[in-house]
Amino acid sequence: MLRIDEKICVGCGQCASECFYGKIAMEGNKAKMADFACWNCNHCIGLCPVGAISDDSVDMGQVIPYRKETFEVPSENLFNMIRFRRSIRMFRPDPVEDDVLLSLLEAGRYSPTGSNRQELSYTVLKKRLPEIRDMAIETFGALVKRNDLDEISRAFDGNLSYKEFWERNYPAYKETGKDALFYNAPVVIVVTGPKDDLSLVDAGIATSNIELLAETKGLGVCYIAFFQTACSINPELEKAIGLAKKEQILAVMAMGYPALQFHRTVPRNPVRAALM
Ligand SMILES: Cc1cc2nc3c(=O)[nH]c(=O)nc-3n(C[C@H](O)[C@H](O)[C@H](O)COP(=O)(O)O)c2cc1C
Repeated sequence: MLRIDEKICVGCGQCASECFYGKIAMEGNKAKMADFACWNCNHCIGLCPVGAISDDSVDMGQVIPYRKETFEVPSENLFNMIRFRRSIRMFRPDPVEDDVLLSLLEAGRYSPTGSNRQELSYTVLKKRLPEIRDMAIETFGALVKRNDLDEISRAFDGNLSYKEFWERNYPAYKETGKDALFYNAPVVIVVTGPKDDLSLVDAGIATSNIELLAETKGLGVCYIAFFQTACSINPELEKAIGLAKKEQILAVMAMGYPALQFHRTVPRNPVRAALM
């Protein structure tokens, strides 16, 4: 439960003025919490200049004070990172250490979620990755062999170049073991959450933050919608990754240390924007 320590509160009123939910109000020169539940955005904890607000239902040890030297990222560097980031499709065989993976999931945990629900889950495939990858590629193999154009069109949202992709790459997988799904990445992170649109946005933000942090650790990422497609065709795959009935797969990230080095940014189309 959120609490304000009256003895510490200096009555600056910042928590009350920022509390969009209306749970905190000033009474005289002290901030007071109303009895009703809020969205637990915990902005009040972060805002209080004297640390008078805490929540005994969470680990307060994770709350650390702001320090400009370690929290600020130069804007130009961040922008350069964003434009230099690439989808990586060639990985070194080196494993990604568990402590590194855990630190990346923290970037997901600290990302915003609609209504502050924090309901995303992460399935990290390492040991079971080859087995699950093989099931997914076999799913595409069976699909192209059945050659039912309606089914293929449904599976690939009408994009028949994906059919051609697997018509080429499934035989290559059978003949040489070529992995055109996860590109031999040593780790795949599957992000799951409630079956609603808000979760899609939550997962987009979380994975983007995970990806940027991964880049700072020398890792590379490729989002893999093909795995979601394979799961939508083959329910056994959803079972294999332990997907809960009330959840959906929101994003899939193949990850590892890149086996190649980009030397420059790549061009993009002009931005489509309207200033109104
Ligand atoms: C939602 C999403 C799904 C993607 N799925 C795949 C995929 O299944 N296989 C693949 O090779 N690349 C996939 N990509 C990578 C895109 O092809 C890539 O982002 C795009 O070509 C731009 O290249 P860049 O990321 O290097 O800038 C996906 C990217 C996104 C954002």
